[in-house]
Amino acid sequence: MILPSRLFCAPMAELTTPALRGTIRRFSKGAVLCSEMLSAGAIAAHSPHNEPLVRKLPGDDPFIYQIVGSNPRVMADACRILEARGCFSIDINMGCAAPDILKTGAGAQLLADPARAREVVAACRAATAGALSVKMRAGFEDADGKRLLGFCAMLHGEGVNFITLHGRHAKLGFRRSADWKLVSLLKKALPIPVIGNGDITAPDQALARLRETGCDAVMLGREAVKSPWIFALCERALSGSAEPLRVDLYEVFTETLRAIGTLLPERLHKSRGHRFAFYFSGNVHFSHDLFTRIRRENSIDAMTRAVEGYFDRNPGEQIREFQPVEGENQCGS
Ligand SMILES: Cc1cc2nc3c(=O)[nH]c(=O)nc-3n(C[C@H](O)[C@H](O)[C@H](O)COP(=O)(O)O)c2cc1C
Repeated sequence: MILPSRLFCAPMAELTTPALRGTIRRFSKGAVLCSEMLSAGAIAAHSPHNEPLVRKLPGDDPFIYQIVGSNPRVMADACRILEARGCFSIDINMGCAAPDILKTGAGAQLLADPARAREVVAACRAATAGALSVKMRAGFEDADGKRLLGFCAMLHGEGVNFITLHGRHAKLGFRRSADWKLVSLLKKALPIPVIGNGDITAPDQALARLRETGCDAVMLGREAVKSPWIFALCERALSGSAEPLRVDLYEVFTETLRAIGTLLPERLHKSRGHRFAFYFSGNVHFSHDLFTRIRRENSIDAMTRAVEGYFDRNPGEQIREFQPVEGENQCGS
């Protein structure tokens, strides 16, 4: 399996909406985008409530659907339905540590139950001829290298085409740093592509991770919400381009909020608008003030007005210019 890019956007619940994906895509034509984590049960039940989350736009490709669940039959049904919609890969979530997910035996709980994980993967493999991937934590309550390699060898044996590793065990949440040595270990041991994930916030870090670990691609999560142009900067770094990138923060902020308003139903505006604004406000000097104002609002129009007000008061913050990083082309791309 050849990956379509060395840059992947992480799946993030309530964040990787069609709206944010559209913003990322305006900056980067090549990065692989991903859905929010989707309930396999809701997909298999053809729940109309779920449709806005499953919606895929033409600009999303190359695109991954991520599903979560622990029932092999239901997961297989979800694979069949999503494959028919067209995507680069269907990804099985083995990383989510939210209590509601764990208690159903899904997400990171599958790391603690390799027999069930095997059944889920085997059922999904039988259901789809397309690419099948797993995104996982390094373990459930510890990150033992030997156990990790054994688990991933099982995934490979069951026909998984590539694996994304977030180098923290599930019980850590986001504490400590992601352990990229585990990504190196996995890359050396597996014949399938390995994508490394965790804590990348800048293009030079992305380049360094690719170089140090030999992994096939890097996946960025939180930074892609705060800086939807990060993949464009990474692409420039990888290709050795010296072209600077000019970003209008006001435009990106308000256009993404408006896209949430037009692409998602009203019942999702508040949660998705606030979630995006929480990360994106981090770009401005008085981020706490801006986010506090946005959080008071329920409608996209009112959130957008809060952003307008901020940049009216702080016009000097609107434009950011990013220079290319040095050390480009060291990855041989
Ligand atoms: C708000 C939020 C929601 C997330 N939702 C998901 C999810 O639905 N599926 C998943 O596999 N990982 C999810 N993650 C984890 C990210 O995909 C990623 O593995 C993690 O944030 C580490 O990458 P980063 O340091 O680049 O952010 C989520 C993370 C955050 C912060």
